[in-house]
Amino acid sequence: MYRASPKDGAAWVTGASSGIGRQVAIELARAGYTVIATARRHDELELLSAEVAADEVAVAHGGRVLTEPGDTRDEARMAAIVAAIVAECGGLALAFLNVGGHFSDPAAPYAAGPAWATIELNVRSVTACLDPVVAHMRGRGRGQIVINASLAGLIGLPGGTFYGASKAALIHLAESLALTLSRDGIRVQVLTPGFIETPLTAGITMPMPFLMQLEPATRRIVKGFERGGFAIALPIRLAMILKLLRILPYWLTFPLLRLAGRAAERAETRKP
Ligand SMILES: NC(=O)c1ccc[n+]([C@@H]2O[C@H](COP(=O)([O-])OP(=O)(O)OC[C@H]3O[C@@H](n4cnc5c(N)ncnc54)[C@H](OP(=O)(O)O)[C@@H]3O)[C@@H](O)[C@H]2O)c1
Repeated sequence: MYRASPKDGAAWVTGASSGIGRQVAIELARAGYTVIATARRHDELELLSAEVAADEVAVAHGGRVLTEPGDTRDEARMAAIVAAIVAECGGLALAFLNVGGHFSDPAAPYAAGPAWATIELNVRSVTACLDPVVAHMRGRGRGQIVINASLAGLIGLPGGTFYGASKAALIHLAESLALTLSRDGIRVQVLTPGFIETPLTAGITMPMPFLMQLEPATRRIVKGFERGGFAIALPIRLAMILKLLRILPYWLTFPLLRLAGRAAERAETRKP
């Protein structure tokens, strides 16, 4: 089964202006890829490109970052970016579909506006990229697509609501795509991170068990791209706990998860 390499084409990283996407873009450039970086903040993408141009490891391996700004909910723009990558680089070997986030109003946690905005951002940011990426990779007869979901999508968690639900949809989608697209030579992987230190988690006040620092986490993510297989889950201990809870019967998992949820609430209210 196909595994992408810098010799076989470029890598596209969405959500590359900060956090996981930015650091993965750096790691891929250090591995020798031409990385096409997409996000809305063009200035941040230009800073990333300049940082990589001054990175000795990336330069030594021939890696670089090209910028293609855009909103990943915009299907026409995503198709134009894929066309530009093909025109500029010849082929797309690896697509890391990473954009995601959440909108919430603590006073109205079930308000339809932020709920739909969260689902739209997380699901549409993947679906808008998929169509042109799959069409291109099918034409080449090979390619690798990695969808960034979350461990929060493995099982319903207390307070998880629409973020977790949207990530569950992405895990389901990735499973189906992996089964369907393997016959076209396309490897699909799902990334399910736990808590990683990024701007996304900077504002979280609840306890974040097994919180990982960005650089070691992204090195493991890129190793997961290279290793192949379907699932890239980290940190492994939290992933094992949640995967176990997923296969136990609800009469057992729900009391355990309620206990964990109450412990998290108590820890949050104890904070100064
Ligand atoms: N950090 C964690 O603990 C954690 C855990 C599990 C899963 N994840 C997932 O990992 C992914 C990256 O998260 P992160 O922690 O790295 O967050 P982050 O630092 O907030 O990065 C999010 C990235 O997405 C981009 N983005 C947001 N909306 C966009 C849009 N409409 N169009 C284009 N780009 C957009 C942002 O750039 P612009 O604002 O410039 O557009 C930014 O580059 C997300 O899918 C998140 O759900 C994170």
